[in-house]
Amino acid sequence: MFFTTSVVLLVLLVPFCSGNFHTRRISSETALLKLVCSRQPIVALVGDDVILPCRLDPVVSADSMTVVWTRPGLDPKYIHVHQDGQLLNRSQNLSYYFRTRVFVDELTYGNVSVSIFKARVSDEGQYWCSIPSIQKEASVQLIVGSVSAPVVEVTSSNRGKMVLQCESAGWFTVTIEQTPTQIHSETWS
Ligand SMILES: *[C@@H]1O[C@H](CO)[C@@H](O)[C@H](O)[C@H]1NC(C)=O
Ligand SMILES: *[C@@H]1O[C@H](CO)[C@@H](O)[C@H](O)[C@H]1NC(C)=O
Ligand SMILES: *[C@@H]1O[C@H](CO)[C@@H](O)[C@H](O)[C@H]1NC(C)=O
Repeated sequence: MFFTTSVVLLVLLVPFCSGNFHTRRISSETALLKLVCSRQPIVALVGDDVILPCRLDPVVSADSMTVVWTRPGLDPKYIHVHQDGQLLNRSQNLSYYFRTRVFVDELTYGNVSVSIFKARVSDEGQYWCSIPSIQKEASVQLIVGSVSAPVVEVTSSNRGKMVLQCESAGWFTVTIEQTPTQIHSETWS
């Protein structure tokens, strides 16, 4: 008897809870809502697991939202599409297969960051996060460098300066020039 009554009550209440009131509240929030991604490029090395940080501001739960991560220029451009609580994988670019995740527990706090595992040089580029239901999108840049053990070469330049060249097979070369006297004083101090 009690059971039947509560079911009837629930059925009567549901339309009020999920109906007009709810949608009106969301749409006024949507106007002020921002999707904020890291403005700083995310720098990683080959093989790293990286997080591309994006969040809703002010904090609103993204639990029920479809979160779409893309990299324009790729075909297919989809990196990770999170819908109905899971990865919608039929649209995903194969080179990201099994290499991405969103933080399902964090969606409640508006954290829609995506993670890419074992970064590759080819992952470098501009990533877009979009949330179609609130018509927001933002982008974040990923830079992937490859660095092997650095090689330090000491060569003398014809201007009487000592040239230390630190070189890696990867993405940067740093050259330090020092006069011999400076090096001398460091050696004997
Ligand atoms: C999508 O995921 C399902 C289950 O995890 C898997 O069986 C299927 O092969 C996947 N499809 C693609 C295109 O990755
Ligand atoms: C996926 O992305 C890569 C670049 O990471 C691209 O070369 C490739 O053509 C895309 N498509 C498929 C089906 O892998
Ligand atoms: C989002 O979640 C990831 C993974 O837990 C965490 O590293 C990151 O700091 C979170 N971002 C924010 C804004 O809370």
